[in-house]
Amino acid sequence: MVYLKTPEQIETMRKVCKIVHDSIEYAGENLRAGMTTRELDALIHKYIVTCGANPTCLGYEGYPAASCISVNEVVVHGIPGDRVIKDGDIVSVDVCADKYGFVGDSARTFLVGDVSEDKKKLVKVAEECFWKALEGLGPGTPLFDIGAAVQEHAEANGYSVVRALTGHGIGREMHEDPNVLNYGKRGTGMRLRAGMVICIEPMINMGTYKVNFDKRDGWTVTTADGKPSAHYENTVAITEDGYDILTL
Ligand code: MF3
Ligand code: CO
Repeated sequence: MVYLKTPEQIETMRKVCKIVHDSIEYAGENLRAGMTTRELDALIHKYIVTCGANPTCLGYEGYPAASCISVNEVVVHGIPGDRVIKDGDIVSVDVCADKYGFVGDSARTFLVGDVSEDKKKLVKVAEECFWKALEGLGPGTPLFDIGAAVQEHAEANGYSVVRALTGHGIGREMHEDPNVLNYGKRGTGMRLRAGMVICIEPMINMGTYKVNFDKRDGWTVTTADGKPSAHYENTVAITEDGYDILTL
């Protein structure tokens, strides 16, 4: 079931999305080699709470932290813990927060210190995939045009897109319909409508698209070949005349 949002509800979502955006920016400003992912998560948690919002991930299906912090070969859903962030790492910080009854969701992949050229390019292409997906986006756009745009740009750069995980609708719940795939065939899928709010989140791998789900912790998703992965996500509203990115 796709829940359309009124313009007033989208303005409410913009407020919580700003908190999400600012918390990730704050994490980026404080990210240092030598700190643990747990320490970074603690900063994000405190930031969200100070804004009067709630870290939606904490307790979601038993998830134990405020954010997902995914280093190098970790694609998404890295549980903050004892892992020490090192010089040369790429670190995806994925945050959901809720306030006023609505959820916002965004992710950025940060470069720590002296990052290799090939990892820098991967991070850049993951962000570019997001912007490619927005080209021409608006009411009437076939949903799978989004995935097609992401896939085309990733593969043109020699990378692969993760298929086992997708973007999603968002609103009163963190995950609403529809699923927003990062691959697909242009011209297919439901037509987007004004009032839809979706999370577009390319997860781009340097090597194989295949991923493993950690059986012990139940969350951590890693690349099957151990090569790096990058993630970039924003919450995007479809408007009468196009789109509106709420987490910028
Ligand atoms: N931002 C993530 C997503 O869109 C949320 C991770 S799952 C959670 O899927 F348990 F951490 F919330
Ligand atoms: Co998301």
